[in-house]
Amino acid sequence: MGAADRARARLVDGLRNSGRVRHAAVEEAFRAVPRHLFLPQVPLARAYADEAVAVQSVDGVTTSSASQPSMMAIMLEQLDLRPGHRVLEIGAGTGYNAALLARIVGPAGRVVAVDIDPDLIRDAARHLVDAGVRGVELVCGDGALGHPPGAPYDRIMLTVGSGDIRPEWIAQLAPGGRLLLPLELRGTQLSVALDLGRDGALHSDSVARCAFVRLRGVGALHDGGASVGDGLTVVPADGRVIDPELVSAALAMPGASRPLPRPLGASDLWDGFGLSLALAERGTCRLLAAADTADDPGAASELLPVGAGRATLALLPDRSDHAGLAAVVLDPIADPGAAGPWPVRVRAFGPTGGAAADRVKAAYEAWAAAGRPTVADLRLSVTEHPGRTPPEPPRGAVAVDTPHCRVLVRSTTTAPGRT
Ligand SMILES: C[S@@+](CC[C@H](N)C(=O)[O-])C[C@H]1O[C@@H](n2cnc3c(N)ncnc32)[C@H](O)[C@@H]1O
Repeated sequence: MGAADRARARLVDGLRNSGRVRHAAVEEAFRAVPRHLFLPQVPLARAYADEAVAVQSVDGVTTSSASQPSMMAIMLEQLDLRPGHRVLEIGAGTGYNAALLARIVGPAGRVVAVDIDPDLIRDAARHLVDAGVRGVELVCGDGALGHPPGAPYDRIMLTVGSGDIRPEWIAQLAPGGRLLLPLELRGTQLSVALDLGRDGALHSDSVARCAFVRLRGVGALHDGGASVGDGLTVVPADGRVIDPELVSAALAMPGASRPLPRPLGASDLWDGFGLSLALAERGTCRLLAAADTADDPGAASELLPVGAGRATLALLPDRSDHAGLAAVVLDPIADPGAAGPWPVRVRAFGPTGGAAADRVKAAYEAWAAAGRPTVADLRLSVTEHPGRTPPEPPRGAVAVDTPHCRVLVRSTTTAPGRT
């Protein structure tokens, strides 16, 4: 056994022991496909670490990466592939995931992998040859449109984030087929496996947390993020246009704070309470501080030390012409160097911040009373927009409209919130 085989065996043992890999076919594919041949530019140890590897960036923003193996395993388990399946992957990147898909569907199946970038497609083709993988058709094109010549597909899998569910993907699914995608819902990315029902709607089978680079091309998502000075960016959860000057004026007026009874961790901020607040309150936004403010956080000092930077949740009041907001901030007793969860408070900023702070606290209490649900507790149903105003969501569900679809979100613990 060579060094690459040993490193790969260690990686796959870890994926199995952590429960990320559950099915024999997924495990066999990870054991068989040599990841290092899809990442020839990085050392062997990096190719077999459980980490994403950036392979392309534009203006400092990563546009393509080989995804983290444990995230790939979670998604391959969500996909529930069978031998003989016809699969469309959108976001071919290095070609590694396509190779895993081809291994699982076997010679009776078919994999079409699309990437928008011709250089990546050229490299992926070379990697697949080097790894001796057959059964993958690479296509350079905009995956927002799917790939009609290969349709219908039993499975369509995006390995790139989308803020929409395109009608093309639904149209290209075989009856009973499954669409798996990193779906950005009010600012949080969810890996959602959606089954096409007889009613023509998509219904979720499973939901997991994820973080992928976003679609380029016609399906690109514009998040409405705006700089508010001091290295801070405000990103509204529903993509609405906000006035950065009002936010910055509010942040200059810190007011009273209310404690929250239990600490919050990074995943609570993004996938648990964060999503619950964003579903309940349209004015939810994220405040982000660049990683380079970590040594001298200044205005960001009360933000939570998430990943390499700092971030928190905030709520803008309904009246967008008033300077005010409420933000979840570190409690002064918190150690910002600790990994979290951190004790937190809700601080009001500006004249209208107090009412917003009360609403954040009320949303927190509703989320806590529901047992602190996470994304895994959510169930989604997706219908294409009818040519008229969609009906009110049923009780207990929140409706989120994407450019082409209406997504109904419920929590299995309790209603995710008010609209
Ligand atoms: C996280 S990477 C995918 C990693 C890949 N699955 C692998 O195994 O290496 C996301 C990919 O999506 C591609 N992408 C972005 N927008 C796209 C689009 N509209 N259509 C097809 N691919 C797109 C990017 O070029 C990038 O290669």
